[in-house]
Amino acid sequence: MRIGTPLARNAMRVMLLGSGELGKEVLIALQRFGIETIAVDRYPNAPGHQVAHRAHVIDMSDPAQVRKLVEQERPHLIVPEIEAIATEELERIEHEGLAEVIPTARAARLTMNREGIRRLAAEELGLPTSPYAFADSLDELRAAIENGIGYPCFIKPVMSSSGKGQSRVTGPEQIEAAWNYAASGSRVNKGRVIVEGAIDFDYEITQLTVRANSGDGDIGTYFCEPIGHVQVHGDYVESWQPQAMSQLALLRARELAKAVTDNLGGRGLFGVELFVKGDQVWFSEVSPRPHDTGLVTLCSQRFSEFEIHARAILGLPVDTSLRRDGASAVIYGGMEAQGIAFDNVDEALQIPETDLRLFGKPEAFTRRRMGVALANGDNTDQARERAKMCADTIKTVADGANNE
Ligand SMILES: Nc1ncnc2c1ncn2[C@@H]1O[C@H](COP(=O)(O)OP(=O)(O)OP(=O)(O)O)[C@@H](O)[C@H]1O
Ligand SMILES: [Mg+2]
Repeated sequence: MRIGTPLARNAMRVMLLGSGELGKEVLIALQRFGIETIAVDRYPNAPGHQVAHRAHVIDMSDPAQVRKLVEQERPHLIVPEIEAIATEELERIEHEGLAEVIPTARAARLTMNREGIRRLAAEELGLPTSPYAFADSLDELRAAIENGIGYPCFIKPVMSSSGKGQSRVTGPEQIEAAWNYAASGSRVNKGRVIVEGAIDFDYEITQLTVRANSGDGDIGTYFCEPIGHVQVHGDYVESWQPQAMSQLALLRARELAKAVTDNLGGRGLFGVELFVKGDQVWFSEVSPRPHDTGLVTLCSQRFSEFEIHARAILGLPVDTSLRRDGASAVIYGGMEAQGIAFDNVDEALQIPETDLRLFGKPEAFTRRRMGVALANGDNTDQARERAKMCADTIKTVADGANNE
Protein backbone atom coordinates (compact mmCIF):
# COMPACT_ATOMS: atom_id res chain seq x y z
CA MET A 1 0.00 0.00 0.00
CA ARG A 2 1.57 3.26 -1.20
CA ILE A 3 0.50 6.79 -0.30
CA GLY A 4 1.68 9.79 -2.34
CA THR A 5 2.00 13.46 -1.47
CA PRO A 6 -1.07 15.67 -1.19
CA LEU A 7 -1.44 18.22 -4.00
CA ALA A 8 1.18 16.32 -6.05
CA ARG A 9 0.44 14.19 -9.12
CA ASN A 10 0.66 11.00 -7.05
CA ALA A 11 -1.73 12.24 -4.33
CA MET A 12 -4.31 9.88 -2.90
CA ARG A 13 -7.57 11.89 -3.02
CA VAL A 14 -10.55 11.27 -0.75
CA MET A 15 -13.88 13.11 -1.01
CA LEU A 16 -16.25 13.32 1.95
CA LEU A 17 -19.91 13.72 1.02
CA GLY A 18 -21.12 15.43 4.16
CA SER A 19 -18.66 17.34 6.33
CA GLY A 20 -20.24 17.66 9.75
CA GLU A 21 -18.54 16.94 13.07
CA LEU A 22 -18.09 13.26 12.25
CA GLY A 23 -16.67 14.00 8.81
CA LYS A 24 -14.34 16.61 10.30
CA GLU A 25 -12.70 13.97 12.49
CA VAL A 26 -12.37 11.56 9.55
CA LEU A 27 -10.78 14.35 7.49
CA ILE A 28 -8.28 15.13 10.26
CA ALA A 29 -7.36 11.44 10.46
CA LEU A 30 -6.87 11.34 6.66
CA GLN A 31 -4.79 14.53 6.73
CA ARG A 32 -2.43 12.84 9.16
CA PHE A 33 -1.74 10.14 6.59
CA GLY A 34 -0.95 12.75 3.93
CA ILE A 35 -4.16 12.24 2.00
CA GLU A 36 -5.50 15.02 -0.23
CA THR A 37 -8.94 15.76 1.17
CA ILE A 38 -12.05 17.26 -0.41
CA ALA A 39 -14.91 18.25 1.90
CA VAL A 40 -18.44 18.63 0.54
CA ASP A 41 -21.53 19.89 2.33
CA ARG A 42 -24.77 21.73 1.61
CA TYR A 43 -23.72 24.93 3.38
CA PRO A 44 -20.47 26.96 3.54
CA ASN A 45 -17.96 26.68 6.39
CA ALA A 46 -19.27 23.31 7.59
CA PRO A 47 -17.01 21.73 10.26
CA GLY A 48 -15.17 19.51 7.76
CA HIS A 49 -14.72 22.34 5.26
CA GLN A 50 -12.45 24.00 7.81
CA VAL A 51 -9.87 21.17 7.86
CA ALA A 52 -9.78 19.95 4.24
CA HIS A 53 -7.59 20.88 1.26
CA ARG A 54 -10.66 21.96 -0.70
CA ALA A 55 -14.26 22.72 0.24
CA HIS A 56 -17.36 22.59 -1.94
CA VAL A 57 -21.01 23.46 -1.39
CA ILE A 58 -23.50 21.44 -3.45
CA ASP A 59 -26.89 19.76 -3.11
CA MET A 60 -25.71 16.18 -2.57
CA SER A 61 -29.16 14.78 -3.31
CA ASP A 62 -28.90 16.13 -6.88
CA PRO A 63 -27.30 13.46 -9.13
CA ALA A 64 -26.06 16.04 -11.66
CA GLN A 65 -24.23 18.09 -9.04
CA VAL A 66 -22.62 14.99 -7.50
CA ARG A 67 -21.44 13.74 -10.91
CA LYS A 68 -20.06 17.14 -11.94
CA LEU A 69 -18.01 17.51 -8.77
CA VAL A 70 -16.65 13.95 -8.93
CA GLU A 71 -15.56 14.51 -12.55
CA GLN A 72 -13.92 17.78 -11.56
CA GLU A 73 -12.08 16.47 -8.47
CA ARG A 74 -11.44 12.85 -9.57
CA PRO A 75 -11.22 11.42 -6.02
CA HIS A 76 -9.98 7.85 -5.61
CA LEU A 77 -12.42 7.28 -2.75
CA ILE A 78 -15.87 8.78 -2.10
CA VAL A 79 -16.88 8.59 1.55
CA PRO A 80 -20.56 9.27 2.29
CA GLU A 81 -20.91 10.88 5.71
CA ILE A 82 -24.65 11.54 5.62
CA GLU A 83 -27.63 9.53 4.42
CA ALA A 84 -29.34 12.04 2.11
CA ILE A 85 -27.22 11.54 -1.02
CA ALA A 86 -28.04 10.73 -4.64
CA THR A 87 -27.08 7.09 -4.11
CA GLU A 88 -28.23 5.98 -7.61
CA GLU A 89 -25.58 8.30 -9.03
CA LEU A 90 -22.99 6.80 -6.65
CA GLU A 91 -23.93 3.36 -7.99
CA ARG A 92 -23.31 4.57 -11.55
CA ILE A 93 -20.01 6.20 -10.56
CA GLU A 94 -18.89 3.00 -8.87
CA HIS A 95 -20.05 0.85 -11.80
CA GLU A 96 -18.11 2.99 -14.28
CA GLY A 97 -14.99 2.69 -12.11
CA LEU A 98 -14.80 6.49 -11.81
CA ALA A 99 -14.23 6.23 -8.04
CA GLU A 100 -14.60 3.71 -5.24
CA VAL A 101 -17.55 4.33 -2.91
CA ILE A 102 -17.10 3.55 0.80
CA PRO A 103 -18.05 0.97 1.89
CA THR A 104 -20.06 0.28 -1.30
CA ALA A 105 -22.64 2.29 -3.26
CA ARG A 106 -25.20 -0.43 -2.54
CA ALA A 107 -24.64 -0.07 1.22
CA ALA A 108 -25.18 3.68 0.93
CA ARG A 109 -28.42 3.12 -1.00
CA LEU A 110 -29.81 0.43 1.31
CA THR A 111 -29.08 2.29 4.54
CA MET A 112 -30.43 5.68 3.44
CA ASN A 113 -33.92 4.18 3.43
CA ARG A 114 -35.29 2.41 6.51
CA GLU A 115 -37.20 0.06 4.22
CA GLY A 116 -34.08 -1.12 2.38
CA ILE A 117 -32.08 -2.00 5.44
CA ARG A 118 -35.03 -3.40 7.45
CA ARG A 119 -36.13 -5.75 4.68
CA LEU A 120 -32.53 -6.88 4.19
CA ALA A 121 -31.97 -7.55 7.89
CA ALA A 122 -35.32 -9.14 8.74
CA GLU A 123 -36.48 -10.78 5.50
CA GLU A 124 -33.23 -11.71 3.73
CA LEU A 125 -30.89 -12.31 6.66
CA GLY A 126 -33.57 -13.45 9.12
CA LEU A 127 -32.24 -11.32 11.99
CA PRO A 128 -34.49 -10.54 14.96
CA THR A 129 -35.98 -7.02 14.70
CA SER A 130 -39.03 -5.25 16.12
CA PRO A 131 -42.29 -6.16 14.33
CA TYR A 132 -42.82 -3.62 11.54
CA ALA A 133 -45.00 -2.55 8.62
CA PHE A 134 -44.88 0.19 5.98
CA ALA A 135 -47.70 2.60 5.19
CA ASP A 136 -48.37 5.21 2.48
CA SER A 137 -51.48 6.77 3.98
CA LEU A 138 -53.07 7.50 7.33
CA ASP A 139 -55.62 4.69 6.75
CA GLU A 140 -52.91 2.16 5.96
CA LEU A 141 -51.02 3.23 9.06
CA ARG A 142 -54.09 2.82 11.28
CA ALA A 143 -54.78 -0.61 9.80
CA ALA A 144 -51.18 -1.76 10.33
CA ILE A 145 -51.25 -0.76 13.99
CA GLU A 146 -54.73 -2.15 14.72
CA ASN A 147 -54.10 -5.43 12.85
CA GLY A 148 -50.84 -6.44 14.44
CA ILE A 149 -48.19 -3.93 15.46
CA GLY A 150 -50.16 -2.71 18.51
CA TYR A 151 -49.07 -0.21 21.19
CA PRO A 152 -46.72 1.32 22.06
CA CYS A 153 -45.18 1.74 18.63
CA PHE A 154 -42.77 4.05 16.82
CA ILE A 155 -43.71 5.85 13.60
CA LYS A 156 -40.82 7.12 11.46
CA PRO A 157 -40.46 8.52 7.95
CA VAL A 158 -38.65 5.90 5.84
CA MET A 159 -36.09 8.57 4.98
CA SER A 160 -34.97 10.58 7.99
CA SER A 161 -32.28 10.51 10.66
CA SER A 162 -31.54 11.81 14.16
CA GLY A 163 -35.14 11.23 15.22
CA LYS A 164 -36.60 13.73 12.74
CA GLY A 165 -40.33 13.18 12.19
CA GLN A 166 -40.34 10.26 14.63
CA SER A 167 -42.98 9.67 17.35
CA ARG A 168 -43.81 7.09 19.97
CA VAL A 169 -47.53 6.36 19.96
CA THR A 170 -49.41 4.78 22.84
CA GLY A 171 -53.01 4.92 21.61
CA PRO A 172 -55.24 5.38 18.52
CA GLU A 173 -55.92 9.06 19.24
CA GLN A 174 -52.22 9.87 18.59
CA ILE A 175 -51.91 8.23 15.17
CA GLU A 176 -53.00 11.17 13.06
CA ALA A 177 -50.61 13.63 14.71
CA ALA A 178 -47.76 11.11 14.31
CA TRP A 179 -48.63 10.68 10.62
CA ASN A 180 -48.55 14.44 10.05
CA TYR A 181 -45.34 14.84 12.01
CA ALA A 182 -43.65 12.09 9.95
CA ALA A 183 -44.63 13.82 6.71
CA SER A 184 -43.07 17.07 7.99
CA GLY A 185 -39.80 15.38 9.10
CA SER A 186 -39.24 13.29 5.98
CA ARG A 187 -36.45 14.28 3.61
CA VAL A 188 -38.03 12.90 0.48
CA ASN A 189 -40.77 10.44 -0.38
CA LYS A 190 -43.27 12.41 1.71
CA GLY A 191 -45.78 10.14 3.26
CA ARG A 192 -44.15 6.72 3.43
CA VAL A 193 -43.55 5.60 6.99
CA ILE A 194 -42.39 2.57 8.89
CA VAL A 195 -44.28 1.65 12.03
CA GLU A 196 -42.38 -0.50 14.50
CA GLY A 197 -43.62 -2.25 17.60
CA ALA A 198 -41.69 -0.97 20.64
CA ILE A 199 -38.98 -3.27 21.98
CA ASP A 200 -38.96 -3.22 25.77
CA PHE A 201 -35.17 -3.27 26.02
CA ASP A 202 -32.96 -3.08 29.14
CA TYR A 203 -30.44 -0.96 27.23
CA GLU A 204 -29.36 -0.17 23.68
CA ILE A 205 -25.88 -0.28 22.19
CA THR A 206 -23.86 0.70 19.17
CA GLN A 207 -21.62 -2.17 18.11
CA LEU A 208 -18.89 -0.51 16.05
CA THR A 209 -17.83 -3.12 13.50
CA VAL A 210 -14.92 -2.76 11.12
CA ARG A 211 -14.17 -4.43 7.81
CA ALA A 212 -10.47 -3.92 7.20
CA ASN A 213 -7.36 -5.43 5.66
CA SER A 214 -6.43 -8.52 7.69
CA GLY A 215 -2.89 -8.60 6.40
CA ASP A 216 -3.22 -11.52 3.99
CA GLY A 217 -5.00 -9.61 1.25
CA ASP A 218 -8.39 -10.50 2.77
CA ILE A 219 -10.92 -8.41 4.66
CA GLY A 220 -11.31 -9.25 8.34
CA THR A 221 -14.08 -8.19 10.73
CA TYR A 222 -13.08 -6.41 13.94
CA PHE A 223 -15.24 -5.25 16.85
CA CYS A 224 -14.89 -2.33 19.22
CA GLU A 225 -16.14 -2.67 22.79
CA PRO A 226 -19.92 -2.05 22.89
CA ILE A 227 -21.07 1.55 23.40
CA GLY A 228 -24.07 2.30 25.62
CA HIS A 229 -26.13 5.43 25.00
CA VAL A 230 -29.14 7.50 25.97
CA GLN A 231 -31.45 8.87 23.28
CA VAL A 232 -33.92 11.73 23.75
CA HIS A 233 -36.50 12.22 20.96
CA GLY A 234 -34.43 9.94 18.73
CA ASP A 235 -31.25 11.96 19.20
CA TYR A 236 -28.22 10.84 21.21
CA VAL A 237 -27.37 12.91 24.30
CA GLU A 238 -24.88 10.73 26.13
CA SER A 239 -22.74 7.66 25.39
CA TRP A 240 -20.17 5.53 27.19
CA GLN A 241 -17.80 2.65 26.51
CA PRO A 242 -17.74 -0.16 27.41
CA GLN A 243 -21.37 -1.06 28.06
CA ALA A 244 -21.49 -4.06 30.44
CA MET A 245 -23.24 -7.02 28.77
CA SER A 246 -23.74 -10.72 29.41
CA GLN A 247 -21.35 -12.91 27.43
CA LEU A 248 -24.20 -14.40 25.47
CA ALA A 249 -25.71 -11.01 24.59
CA LEU A 250 -22.31 -9.77 23.41
CA LEU A 251 -21.80 -12.89 21.30
CA ARG A 252 -25.23 -12.45 19.70
CA ALA A 253 -24.68 -8.72 19.16
CA ARG A 254 -21.52 -9.49 17.23
CA GLU A 255 -23.15 -12.28 15.23
CA LEU A 256 -25.89 -9.87 14.11
CA ALA A 257 -23.36 -7.13 13.38
CA LYS A 258 -21.23 -9.50 11.31
CA ALA A 259 -24.20 -10.82 9.34
CA VAL A 260 -25.27 -7.31 8.34
CA THR A 261 -21.80 -5.94 7.59
CA ASP A 262 -20.78 -9.08 5.65
CA ASN A 263 -23.78 -8.47 3.42
CA LEU A 264 -23.11 -4.74 2.96
CA GLY A 265 -19.47 -5.50 2.17
CA GLY A 266 -16.61 -3.16 1.26
CA ARG A 267 -14.14 -1.63 3.72
CA GLY A 268 -14.78 0.73 6.60
CA LEU A 269 -16.37 1.13 10.00
CA PHE A 270 -20.09 0.55 10.61
CA GLY A 271 -22.29 1.58 13.56
CA VAL A 272 -24.67 -1.30 14.24
CA GLU A 273 -27.54 -0.22 16.53
CA LEU A 274 -28.93 -3.01 18.69
CA PHE A 275 -31.50 -3.36 21.50
CA VAL A 276 -30.69 -5.73 24.39
CA LYS A 277 -32.88 -7.37 27.03
CA GLY A 278 -31.14 -9.99 29.16
CA ASP A 279 -29.47 -12.32 26.67
CA GLN A 280 -31.81 -11.29 23.83
CA VAL A 281 -30.62 -8.94 21.07
CA TRP A 282 -32.57 -7.18 18.29
CA PHE A 283 -31.16 -5.43 15.24
CA SER A 284 -32.40 -1.83 14.89
CA GLU A 285 -30.39 -0.14 12.14
CA VAL A 286 -26.87 0.38 10.80
CA SER A 287 -24.77 3.30 9.58
CA PRO A 288 -22.07 2.35 7.04
CA ARG A 289 -19.84 5.04 8.58
CA PRO A 290 -18.77 6.37 11.99
CA HIS A 291 -21.67 6.77 14.40
CA ASP A 292 -22.49 9.81 16.53
CA THR A 293 -22.57 7.76 19.75
CA GLY A 294 -19.02 6.69 18.83
CA LEU A 295 -17.69 10.20 19.55
CA VAL A 296 -16.79 8.66 22.93
CA THR A 297 -14.02 6.68 21.20
CA LEU A 298 -12.09 9.97 20.82
CA CYS A 299 -11.10 9.42 24.46
CA SER A 300 -11.83 5.75 25.21
CA GLN A 301 -9.96 3.85 22.48
CA ARG A 302 -6.36 3.70 21.37
CA PHE A 303 -7.66 4.81 17.95
CA SER A 304 -10.98 6.66 17.59
CA GLU A 305 -13.71 5.33 15.30
CA PHE A 306 -12.70 8.10 12.87
CA GLU A 307 -9.05 7.03 12.76
CA ILE A 308 -10.16 3.42 12.39
CA HIS A 309 -12.48 4.36 9.50
CA ALA A 310 -9.64 6.26 7.81
CA ARG A 311 -7.28 3.32 8.16
CA ALA A 312 -9.86 0.77 7.01
CA ILE A 313 -10.84 2.70 3.87
CA LEU A 314 -7.18 3.24 2.94
CA GLY A 315 -6.60 -0.52 3.14
CA LEU A 316 -4.52 -0.30 6.32
CA PRO A 317 -4.75 -2.60 9.35
CA VAL A 318 -6.79 -1.46 12.37
CA ASP A 319 -6.59 -1.69 16.16
CA THR A 320 -9.93 -1.55 17.99
CA SER A 321 -8.64 -1.81 21.54
CA LEU A 322 -10.08 0.11 24.48
CA ARG A 323 -7.67 2.48 26.22
CA ARG A 324 -9.69 3.52 29.27
CA ASP A 325 -13.38 3.65 30.22
CA GLY A 326 -14.90 6.79 28.74
CA ALA A 327 -18.05 8.81 28.13
CA SER A 328 -19.35 11.61 25.93
CA ALA A 329 -22.04 14.26 26.60
CA VAL A 330 -23.50 16.46 23.87
CA ILE A 331 -23.32 20.27 24.04
CA TYR A 332 -26.37 21.84 22.36
CA GLY A 333 -26.76 25.29 20.86
CA GLY A 334 -29.52 26.17 23.30
CA MET A 335 -30.50 29.12 21.08
CA GLU A 336 -30.95 30.19 17.49
CA ALA A 337 -28.01 32.42 16.54
CA GLN A 338 -25.10 32.87 14.16
CA GLY A 339 -21.52 32.65 15.37
CA ILE A 340 -22.17 31.81 19.02
CA ALA A 341 -19.43 31.67 21.65
CA PHE A 342 -18.64 29.12 24.36
CA ASP A 343 -17.99 30.40 27.88
CA ASN A 344 -16.32 28.67 30.86
CA VAL A 345 -14.18 26.40 28.68
CA ASP A 346 -11.27 26.72 31.11
CA GLU A 347 -13.46 25.88 34.09
CA ALA A 348 -14.99 22.89 32.27
CA LEU A 349 -11.58 21.42 31.50
CA GLN A 350 -10.58 21.65 35.18
CA ILE A 351 -12.68 18.51 35.68
CA PRO A 352 -10.24 15.58 35.76
CA GLU A 353 -9.61 13.58 32.58
CA THR A 354 -11.89 15.70 30.38
CA ASP A 355 -11.55 16.88 26.81
CA LEU A 356 -13.69 18.85 24.43
CA ARG A 357 -14.60 19.11 20.76
CA LEU A 358 -16.23 22.36 19.58
CA PHE A 359 -17.40 21.68 16.05
CA GLY A 360 -17.23 25.22 14.62
CA LYS A 361 -20.74 25.18 13.11
CA PRO A 362 -21.50 28.69 11.84
CA GLU A 363 -25.13 28.64 13.01
CA ALA A 364 -26.66 27.36 16.26
CA PHE A 365 -30.17 26.00 16.81
CA THR A 366 -31.68 25.16 20.16
CA ARG A 367 -31.31 21.40 19.64
CA ARG A 368 -28.32 21.48 17.28
CA ARG A 369 -25.24 19.58 18.43
CA MET A 370 -22.47 22.20 18.64
CA GLY A 371 -19.86 20.31 20.62
CA VAL A 372 -19.19 17.30 22.78
CA ALA A 373 -17.58 16.82 26.17
CA LEU A 374 -15.40 13.73 26.63
CA ALA A 375 -14.15 12.17 29.85
CA ASN A 376 -12.34 9.12 31.13
CA GLY A 377 -12.67 7.52 34.54
CA ASP A 378 -12.00 4.38 36.55
CA ASN A 379 -15.38 3.13 35.33
CA THR A 380 -18.14 4.36 33.01
CA ASP A 381 -20.18 5.81 35.91
CA GLN A 382 -17.34 8.12 36.83
CA ALA A 383 -16.63 8.96 33.20
CA ARG A 384 -20.32 9.79 32.57
CA GLU A 385 -20.49 12.04 35.60
CA ARG A 386 -17.39 13.94 34.49
CA ALA A 387 -18.51 14.27 30.87
CA LYS A 388 -21.95 15.58 31.90
CA MET A 389 -20.42 18.02 34.36
CA CYS A 390 -18.03 19.25 31.68
CA ALA A 391 -20.86 19.71 29.14
CA ASP A 392 -23.05 21.48 31.73
CA THR A 393 -20.25 23.87 32.67
CA ILE A 394 -19.93 25.13 29.09
CA LYS A 395 -22.35 28.00 28.45
CA THR A 396 -23.29 28.98 24.92
CA VAL A 397 -23.75 32.71 24.40
CA ALA A 398 -24.81 34.91 21.51
CA ASP A 399 -22.09 37.54 21.78
CA GLY A 400 -23.15 39.31 18.62
CA ALA A 401 -20.02 38.37 16.65
CA ASN A 402 -21.91 38.27 13.37
CA ASN A 403 -24.56 40.85 14.11
CA GLU A 404 -22.55 44.04 14.06
N1 LIG B 1 -38.91 -0.21 17.79
C1 LIG B 1 -38.34 0.49 18.80
N2 LIG B 1 -38.43 0.02 20.05
C2 LIG B 1 -37.90 0.73 21.09
N3 LIG B 1 -37.23 1.88 20.95
C3 LIG B 1 -37.10 2.39 19.72
C4 LIG B 1 -37.65 1.73 18.57
N4 LIG B 1 -37.36 2.47 17.49
C5 LIG B 1 -36.68 3.55 17.93
N5 LIG B 1 -36.52 3.51 19.26
C6 LIG B 1 -35.79 4.53 20.08
O1 LIG B 1 -35.60 5.71 19.30
C7 LIG B 1 -34.20 5.88 18.99
C8 LIG B 1 -34.02 6.44 17.59
O2 LIG B 1 -34.54 5.53 16.65
P1 LIG B 1 -33.80 5.27 15.27
O3 LIG B 1 -32.39 4.90 15.53
O4 LIG B 1 -34.60 4.32 14.47
O5 LIG B 1 -33.93 6.72 14.64
P2 LIG B 1 -32.94 7.63 13.85
O6 LIG B 1 -33.71 8.81 13.43
O7 LIG B 1 -32.28 6.82 12.80
O8 LIG B 1 -31.90 8.07 14.90
P3 LIG B 1 -30.32 8.22 14.65
O9 LIG B 1 -30.15 8.76 13.27
O10 LIG B 1 -29.92 9.21 15.73
O11 LIG B 1 -29.75 6.87 14.86
C9 LIG B 1 -33.58 4.52 19.20
O12 LIG B 1 -32.20 4.61 19.46
C10 LIG B 1 -34.40 4.02 20.40
O13 LIG B 1 -33.97 4.64 21.60
MG1 LIG C 1 -30.60 5.31 15.23
